[in-house]
Amino acid sequence: MVYVVAMQPRSWLPERLEGERVALRRHAAANLDAFQRWYSDPEIARLNRHESGVMRRDEIDRFFSARVMGPDTLSLAVHVRETGRLIGTCAFSHLDGDNGSALYHITIGERDEWGRGYGTEATDLMLEHAFERLSLHRIGLSVFSFNERAIASYRKSGFVIEGTLRQAIWRDGRFWDEHQMGILTDEWRTLRRMRTVDRRPADNRTDMVAAGISTASDGVGG
Ligand SMILES: CC(C)(COP(=O)(O)OP(=O)(O)OC[C@H]1O[C@@H](n2cnc3c(N)ncnc32)[C@H](O)[C@@H]1OP(=O)(O)O)[C@@H](O)C(=O)NCCC(=O)NCCS
Repeated sequence: MVYVVAMQPRSWLPERLEGERVALRRHAAANLDAFQRWYSDPEIARLNRHESGVMRRDEIDRFFSARVMGPDTLSLAVHVRETGRLIGTCAFSHLDGDNGSALYHITIGERDEWGRGYGTEATDLMLEHAFERLSLHRIGLSVFSFNERAIASYRKSGFVIEGTLRQAIWRDGRFWDEHQMGILTDEWRTLRRMRTVDRRPADNRTDMVAAGISTASDGVGG
């Protein structure tokens, strides 16, 4: 059997994805200013860059035009719904229609917005798009082992650690592991069903247990 996902260039890039607290919108050329600020922040570079040090201005320009605005990546801007503030960016790269897979990336560039649930909600929206509308089978990512906030956020969205590149990254004067995480479409559907059950009144949950549907809320995070 051949697994082929029909992904026409740009037709798979949505205009916007709406969550409860964040909205993902197509990037505008004016977002380059924010990218210049985010990616010249040493802490952002420490958390998500293999190379040591920050990107140069011209590298950020090229990254923005090729990887953010370019045709090969599904990249969306993360905005806080209530205020409209642009706070970050998230993307699928390496979209592989033959094998139904892609790699996920996210950066909430505005540090004062970390830890408020925005990153996890953006990831949830991207996974829903990947599995419901693009019919992908698997989303993968890589994360440094010291990035505990990112790992916690990815686990909440259903990613599990699938493997570890031992001591693959030199940072802060020592070697650290790099984890490969992934989520499959069936795992995402199970997690979504469990979340729906958790939001229902207790009486309904009792009915679902009677019907043999699991109501546990922490089975997929790994
Ligand atoms: C990683 C990132 C996307 C997460 O988004 P976020 O909005 O900050 O995270 P959230 O608030 O949605 O979730 C973070 C979770 O981690 C937990 N957390 C925060 N700091 C933590 C730490 N040091 N150790 C363990 N858990 C931590 C939070 O408590 C929260 O879980 P909870 O909701 O159950 O309390 C965002 O912080 C970011 O972009 N950081 C900089 C760039 C980066 O690291 N990108 C990822 C590269 S792989």
